[in-house]
Amino acid sequence: MDHKFPPLKNDLLLRAARGEPVERVPVWAMRQAGRYLPEFKATRAEHEFFKVCRTPELACEVTLQPLRRYDFDASIIFSDILVIPQALGMTVEMVPGKGPSFPEPLVTPEDMEKLDTKCKVAESLSYVYEAVTLTRMKIDGQCPLIGFAGAPWTLMSYMIEGGGTKTHSKAKKWLYCYPEASHKLLQLLADVIVDHLVLQICAGAQLVQLFESHAGILGPNLFYKFALPYIKYISVKVREALTAKEVEHVPMTIFAKDAHFALEELADSGYEVISLDWTIKPKHARSRCGENVTLQGNLDPCALYASKEEIGEFAKELVHSFGTKRWIANLGHGMYPDHDPEHLEAFIEAIHKYSQQPSDEL
Ligand code: CP3
Repeated sequence: MDHKFPPLKNDLLLRAARGEPVERVPVWAMRQAGRYLPEFKATRAEHEFFKVCRTPELACEVTLQPLRRYDFDASIIFSDILVIPQALGMTVEMVPGKGPSFPEPLVTPEDMEKLDTKCKVAESLSYVYEAVTLTRMKIDGQCPLIGFAGAPWTLMSYMIEGGGTKTHSKAKKWLYCYPEASHKLLQLLADVIVDHLVLQICAGAQLVQLFESHAGILGPNLFYKFALPYIKYISVKVREALTAKEVEHVPMTIFAKDAHFALEELADSGYEVISLDWTIKPKHARSRCGENVTLQGNLDPCALYASKEEIGEFAKELVHSFGTKRWIANLGHGMYPDHDPEHLEAFIEAIHKYSQQPSDEL
């Protein structure tokens, strides 16, 4: 690429993702930029959520906030998975205390005609790529920068449900009643996601993570039919596009929350890293995923409510169960707004302490 980025001083995350030896296990936290941080809340008090996403300087600032506090081994660009439905012409609002809301969700397949299927992602989401490049410069090589996107099913479910839901029954109804239209929508989303990930990589993202946060609600049959094929398609197409552009490949992570039934298939879906939620036993995951993928996770986010001493013990147990090879320490899902920032620090420090390798064993 044309950008001349500062040299990377800490590549633990990338080495762990590629299965290379590490002197200590890399650690970061999903939603590490978020409302548990007073400095994030201060930024949000002044600027609306999507304004932060759309203003590269603000997105960069909140991405860097957790790095100023913690000894993290990765950063993740501040954005949202719902920028893709926005690029397709849908209105998405972030309602305080409620979460994302679509005033006009898709109700029937005819509503797909309202989508801007010819959308030019490079233009409509240019603010994300500008934020990635700016942040990569400003991080100054402190650690790698992760880019991300929502996976097709998770985005489809938001676009139909219009917001949070327990059952996802409106979106699942599409899968049973309109399977062809569902595949059409999922394919459209998959192609936009491929472009969005490739453009983030070209802009400077050093690893990309795909969030299939609503995988569990599908169960095995629907997951194999409507989620997994697109997850695989995305890993194949991103690599093909990078090769065609002569851009160096970056590791890819898949987080399919609650899809424990599909661990074997996920390990074989073209991603270097499988991110696990907290309901999966580390040793069980390793035996089912094999030795050729890196695992990421999987402390229960609620474990951060425990005392700092207990958090240290949880971290020790995780190091013991995952081992120090091919593992990236993280939570099993994102930070919550009422987490104590000091408790996250206790987790990070304990992971570093217990996973430190004697140099002669590397
Ligand atoms: O991890 C990071 O620090 C990077 C930023 C990031 C955000 N959203 C910022 C955010 C990432 C990676 C996401 C992904 C995302 N967004 C997912 C996938 C991960 C997951 O949680 O399963 C999903 C499902 C969304 C959609 C979304 N955006 C939800 C459900 C919410 C929370 C609503 C709420 O009020 O709890 C958001 C809002 C959001 N995205 C916040 C942040 C920091 C908090 C909202 C705020 O600041 O007002």
